[in-house]
Amino acid sequence: MKALKATGVCRAYGKGALKVDVLRDFDLTIDAGAFVALMGPSGSGKSTFLHLAAGLLAADAGTICVDGEDVTKMSDAAATRFRRRHAGVVFQDFNLVDTLTVAENIVLPVALDGARADGVRLTALLGKLGLAGKEHRKPGELSGGERQRVAIARALFAEPAVVLADEPTGNLDAAASRGICDLLKDLNKTEKSAILLVTHDPVVAACASEVCFLKDGRIAARHATAGDPARVSELYLETCK
Ligand SMILES: Nc1ncnc2c1ncn2[C@@H]1O[C@H](COP(=O)(O)OP(=O)(O)OP(=O)(O)O)[C@@H](O)[C@H]1O
Ligand SMILES: [Mg+2]
Repeated sequence: MKALKATGVCRAYGKGALKVDVLRDFDLTIDAGAFVALMGPSGSGKSTFLHLAAGLLAADAGTICVDGEDVTKMSDAAATRFRRRHAGVVFQDFNLVDTLTVAENIVLPVALDGARADGVRLTALLGKLGLAGKEHRKPGELSGGERQRVAIARALFAEPAVVLADEPTGNLDAAASRGICDLLKDLNKTEKSAILLVTHDPVVAACASEVCFLKDGRIAARHATAGDPARVSELYLETCK
């Protein structure tokens, strides 16, 4: 089964003369366990697609199957429940709950789902993400890079089919950004979840196996990154300039 399969997705904002078509007959397929970067000019609709795939926004047309289920047909409540298990989300600004500890933040989606969080899984993820010993801290007592690692652990905890990450390194300095990239590469090898990573940075995109370019409402090209930021940069300019 595909981790994600979007077919004929359309989404516009505004009405009448002010209507802006952002996604037009947009298709994208992500295999189970794949690592795909999504690039495109500012305003091309990358965040719009991620929000649609997470069931946080309604599509005007088309289907987006995540783990085999069409999120575009779900009610808000059903999409919220679905997301807790099947789609992890990571945003630029971390979105952690400041009053909860690191450990509580990571298990929150599963706890909200009424399940008991697996302590062995939690300890393993804390270790993998370099957060061992920090599980009782609050987000305010962490660096930006550490906060983003908590958000990634939260997204991965339930082993979702796909992790949707919107510019997860956008608020980090070069060193912390590098750390998150190396981590995502490593996690993609050892975890089951596929990753869809939105970024403007070719160095970050080159951590993924493939890169897709969004232009004029659709995926205009899809290439292997070969782990090479210079190649990603060149392909971006070829497709999106
Ligand atoms: N709630 C909204 N109402 C009206 N227009 C919106 C809304 N959200 C986004 N848009 C418009 O839709 C287009 C796509 O926005 P989106 O945020 O998906 O782009 P993006 O590719 O993520 O850009 P960036 O790289 O700057 O984050 C933009 O033109 C934006 O102005
Ligand atoms: Mg965006």
